Amino acid sequence: MSKVKTSFVCRDCGAIAPRWSGRCLECGVWDTMETFAGSDEGDGPAHCATDAAGSSALPLSEVPALEVPRIATGIGEFDRTLGGGIVPGSAILIGGDPGIGKSTLLLQAFSALAARGQRVLYASSEESAQQVKLRAQRICPGESQPHDTLYLLAETSVARITNEARRVRASFLAIDSIQLVQRHDADALPGSMTQLRRCCLELVQFAKSTGTAVLIIGHVTKEGDLAGPKLLEHLVDVVLSFEGDRHHAFRLVRATKNRYGSTHEIGLFEMTGDGLAEVDESALAAANAADPRPGSAIVPVMAGSRVLLAEIQALVAAGFLGNAKRKASGTDTGRLSMMIAVLEKHAGLRLADQDIYTAVAGGMRVVEPAADLGVCLAIAGAHLGRALAPGTAVLGEVGLSGELRPMRNLDQRIAEAIRRGCNTIVCPSGQPLARLPGSATIIPVRGIAQAIELLSPIRKAH
Ligand code: TYD
Ligand code: MG
Repeated sequence: MSKVKTSFVCRDCGAIAPRWSGRCLECGVWDTMETFAGSDEGDGPAHCATDAAGSSALPLSEVPALEVPRIATGIGEFDRTLGGGIVPGSAILIGGDPGIGKSTLLLQAFSALAARGQRVLYASSEESAQQVKLRAQRICPGESQPHDTLYLLAETSVARITNEARRVRASFLAIDSIQLVQRHDADALPGSMTQLRRCCLELVQFAKSTGTAVLIIGHVTKEGDLAGPKLLEHLVDVVLSFEGDRHHAFRLVRATKNRYGSTHEIGLFEMTGDGLAEVDESALAAANAADPRPGSAIVPVMAGSRVLLAEIQALVAAGFLGNAKRKASGTDTGRLSMMIAVLEKHAGLRLADQDIYTAVAGGMRVVEPAADLGVCLAIAGAHLGRALAPGTAVLGEVGLSGELRPMRNLDQRIAEAIRRGCNTIVCPSGQPLARLPGSATIIPVRGIAQAIELLSPIRKAH
């Protein structure tokens, strides 16, 4: 018989301690320890390949190769994030802020799978089956005939959900969301550490034993962590994070852990009236590239293995000396202060009494140093009332002495920017190019002051 032991787990870092303490001894955060009833059986990782029979070590060359089959959902951007499709028997956790579109994405993926003849079960613990149906009709308006292989279930008991999944012989199971499902034998409230971990474990075991792929939705906490942070993440095979600003249309799906593929790929979506639409990134910045404004710069940034064109915008307005505001949305605030200091020192701009705001259009997040020059030129442009020539993309990390530093993937970024219609590329002079693009002009610059000379006054059309 399994013995139930009570221990304490930190809500923040997942550390387990035998005794309660006001402060987590691992991460040092106060008031995060919570009771956690685990049993000494069945709480280990469910996917351990070895068991009591034991296995013997083999040389790598003798280990039989494993073909990982993948089933594509048909939603290209989602499949790309997963490394080509969903692996049968895998457990996938999808995290994101409430209202970002997790349920919409999963329902779209499931109806696409059902349309391809897969048997799928969408278990909702948050909404009734009628509510889910309403949403399904909204996001798949073209399909007059509902798919017979898409099953809906409004249920909060994990045991009943897995039973139903067995009964309808589902190859894919969605849990929306893990915070509201429960095991009745666990003496804890839904959403507590005990329930989260035990429900997740049961679902992972179900996935491994039946070959059903289980996709689990989890809300993130106020601090931006996935519910029961590390606690759930190490139980599943793939962790996807759905990011973006709820008030902006663009959404980004990123894999933060993937046992079956790379974590470099991202999927780009736009929330429309008819659900999530896949985004052709060229639309993001193309509008601005053709019609430049002061305070805006187009930067080809890397997102995994692909290049996105991000539009960095800046606003410079008179403020108070000693109390000037600096705010970055979508870029790094610490780096913004650094860029302002570089502009003051090495480009002679007087910004000490100016309020400065920067943002990335569309709610994208750009953290790459390669976007430094874009941030600087957007601020300088906004301050001086000057703009870059139409169709210009800028690239370069700015060093503390105002010099431009090389970056990775320069050739790929330039090639993509040209493909999307940019005909002038400003980049660091020190970095050699493997191949020179024929159709575009490359302007190599040494430092920030030289780059600012490229800004020209805007003549208003009458
Ligand atoms: P939802 O998928 O419910 O988010 P989550 O499950 O992550 O909490 O949807 C989020 C928002 O998207 C919702 O507030 C309404 C909006 N939305 C649309 O704009 N268009 C649509 O077609 C759908 C289904 C939702
Ligand atoms: Mg939801």
